[in-house]
Order: sequence, then structure tokens, then C-alpha cells
Amino acid sequence: MPQSNNQLHRAKELKNNEFYTFMDDIENELSKYDLAQFESKIVYCNCDDPTWSNFFKFFIKWGQRLKIKEVHFTNYANGKRQFKQLTLFELDDLKESAEDDKKGTAHHWIYTPATNKIVKKELNGNGDFRSNECKEILCKCDIVVTNPPFSLFREFIDLIIVTYNKQFLIIGDINISKYRDCFNLIKTNKFWFGYTQVKKFINNELVKQKFGNKFWYTNLDVKYRHQPFVLHEQDLSQFCRYDNYDAIEVPQVKLIPDNYFEPMGVPITFLQKYCPEQFEILGISEGNAIFELTNRGLSKEFVENYYKNGGTGSYNINHPILGYYNKDGIATIPFSRIIIRRKQNELSN
Ligand SMILES: C[S@@+](CC[C@H](N)C(=O)[O-])C[C@H]1O[C@@H](n2cnc3c(N)ncnc32)[C@H](O)[C@@H]1O
Repeated sequence: MPQSNNQLHRAKELKNNEFYTFMDDIENELSKYDLAQFESKIVYCNCDDPTWSNFFKFFIKWGQRLKIKEVHFTNYANGKRQFKQLTLFELDDLKESAEDDKKGTAHHWIYTPATNKIVKKELNGNGDFRSNECKEILCKCDIVVTNPPFSLFREFIDLIIVTYNKQFLIIGDINISKYRDCFNLIKTNKFWFGYTQVKKFINNELVKQKFGNKFWYTNLDVKYRHQPFVLHEQDLSQFCRYDNYDAIEVPQVKLIPDNYFEPMGVPITFLQKYCPEQFEILGISEGNAIFELTNRGLSKEFVENYYKNGGTGSYNINHPILGYYNKDGIATIPFSRIIIRRKQNELSN
């Protein structure tokens, strides 16, 4: 029987959500923070079944050293999850979890590093991070650490920052910054990139998959935010100007000029080095977040020239994206750009 759009959408969503983090990626990122940032804190991993989550393994291994007070884990009972699943423990545990999943039974584990004890309790519901019982646990914790379902990232971040104002260290897609809600949180310094990129995950078929767009996000303090990066004087005539916004296009982060204090568009990876004492973020070049910057989309003339020169993709008149004419006069639409401006008083800060 053909699958309905809804079924296909759910199947795709499920597939996109079931990517598990490797231990070395968790260790690499968490080892970059000061011990004091975790000391005496209650940590919550709210999308983590200890049967197969390396977040559990990480905190069992490092919880005492980090002097964490407690670590809470809740899993999501997901009846559609494949039985083939990586496990850190015995196959019997795996079977038990798979059966629990089918019954819709989820659990809450509490690990106390000082005593090395784990207590496991059954939840009333399926462990959805949006459920009241999971929100109660969230409310009592200090730091959320997890890799949440990719399809629910915006809801997840809204819950932990906007509603509960928690500290966190979580994995997400680089493209989240194109959404107006997420972008505004980044722009207003409510959260930022962690230290590292996550380039691989294992899926629930035990296949390792490579990614180029997943990063750690956090609102824990990170050192690079206090270290202005070294800029070099540039020949400003090399930079093009956007056709529909008054800023220059800087195609590489390393080309950000030392001798320029007006708006400029830079690749989104700039955010990995962003020091708010050195720059302010004004906007982003595409997605609905662009309206924070300008209401001027692509002009009729620009769109016509773009297609005349073999441009691809689907852009219409007034499309909300920044474009520019390159040095050969060809209408060009760059990959996502963050629009930034250097702070005049950066040295005196
Ligand atoms: C990207 S995976 C990461 C799993 C684990 N944190 C890790 O990194 O190994 C996201 C997990 O969230 C679970 N999940 C999906 N929807 C959820 C929801 N509404 N509430 C809580 N967890 C959910 C998925 O079943 C999956 O185990």
C-alpha cells in the first residue's frame, strides 16, 4: 500500500532523529570546559537511553572527576525504533529496552557520582522532553547535555532557554541559524557555538555516517568569545557590495579586514570564532531571519540577470536573500552569510 505523505514525513523524521553520538566527540567537547563549570551541578540528559547513549557512558566515566552532583537521564519510548541498536551493556538490557519501547514505557535514571549509585524509576509517560514529568526534572537541573532529535531542535532550544533559562551543551545543525527564533537568540548572545564540530554519528542500523553541518551549541562560557581574532589590513576594492543591502561581501573569514568598520557579510562559520567584544551581529543573509536586517529582497533585474547567466535554484522577485554582482558583473547568490560590524571601541573593552 502506498504510504501517505504524513507516514513518509514521520518515517523521514524518525530516521533523521536516530543518530547517536560517539564517545570521542563527547569527550573532545566536554574536556574543553573548566571543571568549575560542572562542579556541584545537576546535569540532565533528556534524550538519552542509558542502554545505548554514550552520554550515559561519559558521565559514568567522568562524573566524579567533574565533581557533578547528580546526572539525570530520561529516554524516549519509541515503538518504531529498530531493534538493531548499539548497546553499551548486555544484550538482555537491549531486549528489555526494546520491549519497553513497544509498551511505551520510559525511565528516569539518577546517577550520583559521589556514591557511584544509579537509581532507575519508571516514568508515567513516554519520556517526551516536552512532557510535564520531564519538564519537572528539567526544572531542577542546572545544565542540559545531549544530542536532541534534529527535527525538534527549535522546540528543544525554546524550552531550555526561553522557558526554563537553563545552561546547556547540545548538538545541532548549522542551518538552525537561518530560523528567525534561533537567529535572534544567537544575535542577542543567548547561545553560541561550542568548541568542536561533530563529523560523524552512528545510526540505529549501526552504520557510521559522516556529516559536515553538525556542531555543539552552548550558553556555557567559552574562551574564544573573549579572544578577538587577529585581523589583517585588506585592499577594500577586492570586495563586492550586495545589490539589496548596504554591506560588503567577504567570502572567507580570514579575509575580514582590519581596516573596515561598516557592515559586512561573512560565512556562517564566523560564528565559531565570534568574539562579541570585537564584533556585533546585525543579521543573516537568508531565511526568514533576514527580515531582522532588511525587507528588500532580490530585485526583478537581479533575478533576470541571475538566470540569464545560468544561475540555478529557485529565486523569485523580492526573494528574501542577499545577492551581489561579482567582479565579472555576474549576479551571484552566496551561501549563507552572517552580517556583522566591527565594534569601534573594541580595544577599550
Ligand atoms: C539524535 S538522537 C541522539 C540520541 C543520544 N542523545 C545520542 O546522542 O546518542 C535523538 C534521540 O532523541 C529521541 N527522541 C525523539 N523524539 C523525542 C522526544 N520528543 N523527546 C525525547 N526524546 C526524543 C530519539 O529517539 C533519539 O534517541
